[in-house]
Amino acid sequence: MSRLVVVSNRVGIPDGNARAGGLEVAIRPALKKRGGIWFGWSGKVADGTPGPAKTVHQDKVDYVTVDLPQDDYDEFYNGFANRVLWPILHYRLDLAEFTRRDLSGYFRVNQFFVENLEKFLRPDDVIWVHDYHLMPLAQMLRERGHKNRLGFFLHIPCPPPEILTGLPNHERVVAGLCSYDLVGFQTENDANNFSRYLANEVGLKRAGDSSFHYEDRSVTVGIFPVGVETEAFSRMAARAVGSQFVNKVMASMSGRALIIGVDRLDYSKGIPERLNAFERFLANFADWRGLVTYLQITPRSRTDIREYADIGRLVGEAVGRINGTFGEASWTPLRYINKAHSRTALAGLYRSARVGLVTPLRDGMNLVAKEYIAAQDADDPGVLVLSRFAGAARECGAALLVNPYDSEGVAIAINRALGMPVEERRMRHQANFAMLVKNDLSQWAERFLGLLDGVSSTDPAAEMLDPPMRRIARQG
Ligand code: UDP
Ligand code: G6P
Repeated sequence: MSRLVVVSNRVGIPDGNARAGGLEVAIRPALKKRGGIWFGWSGKVADGTPGPAKTVHQDKVDYVTVDLPQDDYDEFYNGFANRVLWPILHYRLDLAEFTRRDLSGYFRVNQFFVENLEKFLRPDDVIWVHDYHLMPLAQMLRERGHKNRLGFFLHIPCPPPEILTGLPNHERVVAGLCSYDLVGFQTENDANNFSRYLANEVGLKRAGDSSFHYEDRSVTVGIFPVGVETEAFSRMAARAVGSQFVNKVMASMSGRALIIGVDRLDYSKGIPERLNAFERFLANFADWRGLVTYLQITPRSRTDIREYADIGRLVGEAVGRINGTFGEASWTPLRYINKAHSRTALAGLYRSARVGLVTPLRDGMNLVAKEYIAAQDADDPGVLVLSRFAGAARECGAALLVNPYDSEGVAIAINRALGMPVEERRMRHQANFAMLVKNDLSQWAERFLGLLDGVSSTDPAAEMLDPPMRRIARQG
């Protein structure tokens, strides 16, 4: 079997720190099983020029990381990746702040990654690149003569071409994905949006149901919903519920029903809208006052970016307002924490919570939703209230699906979840759990890599490409 080289901006360095982020959680077990290299950013900003890449070896995996100089951190990570691509791919053109300087920083860092990465590459390595930070990587590797199999997976949504084309220079950035052999998405919706973009904007001709001709090669588009390690997570939750930490939290609830939300502090997660819904719930279903506690765990994220600071302020104000309005000397309706927790601790809390609130405005998948389901006690499960705009809603249709913009609707769903009879809870949980077992995380990596092994990287039908289209495709 060829060696696997995973490349992503964020690397799950085994340092024992609790970090929030679905990409890292998804890749770690897949890579651990097969072994290989995980290459990316160390998470550190270098003082001056960064030194050579550092390697940590553990469990068949070499974790190879590079530091970024301050300019690159500003223009690539805080700039083009998270101030332009993140909002636009989450359908928020209104929040994008594009500058040419950040765009050139984006390409510069991708080049820097390529130059460092190629020192470790062998000709028969399979290279799997992850997420929006590194879209141009394949094109750069190809230009330097690398002929490896190259796959790309987008963890976040892919909006329709009508939105994608609002990205300045989308021809250079998004069309760069054509240099991969296989491009994977979370849902059918995302894959269809991308295929429509390739056909209508890049002018590629179809080579089959899910592949396109591109220059003298072809690019295949696939759907690979990320899962969780369902049964292992379920066992972890069953153990964690007896831990000192969970016992202490539950003792502090004084018998009240626990509602839980766990999200990075990010505007895509719909936290202010969710708090409005909880406020509505307390206003409209007054019988529950004093009987529930809503625990919102929200590690800070991308703190140097203004929109992230803004959302932090907004959430803080809403928490104060709700506790001020409805709280009593003996009861705080809402507990809001910014500290990251270990996944073991979260597993125990999910299992103890009557309701899981996962209501992003837009999310590629949302692993918290799947973890909440996996953690439940099958005999007495809690209820997941899930946004229809999370990728997870495709597989977890037995959750209470809501529109996160409709705070009254979400308030009604919270009330329904809290009062749901055990038979209905079991039925819904069984359906969701079975789906998650079928679509376990191990399937995700196996399916993606299986297909990547199978796709042909040179395209015998390339001459069918009509030359002007070919030029447009190459120029992007
Ligand atoms: N997570 C964690 N500690 C925290 C908060 C979150 O380990 O304090 C994990 C959570 O269990 C999940 C991941 O971070 O596995 C978040 O993934 P998700 O897809 O829900 O959202 P993302 O942050 O990737 O947008
Ligand atoms: C999402 C993105 C990942 C990212 C993670 C955490 O899951 O898809 O690419 O790593 O958020 O964000 P951060 O900016 O801290 O890496």
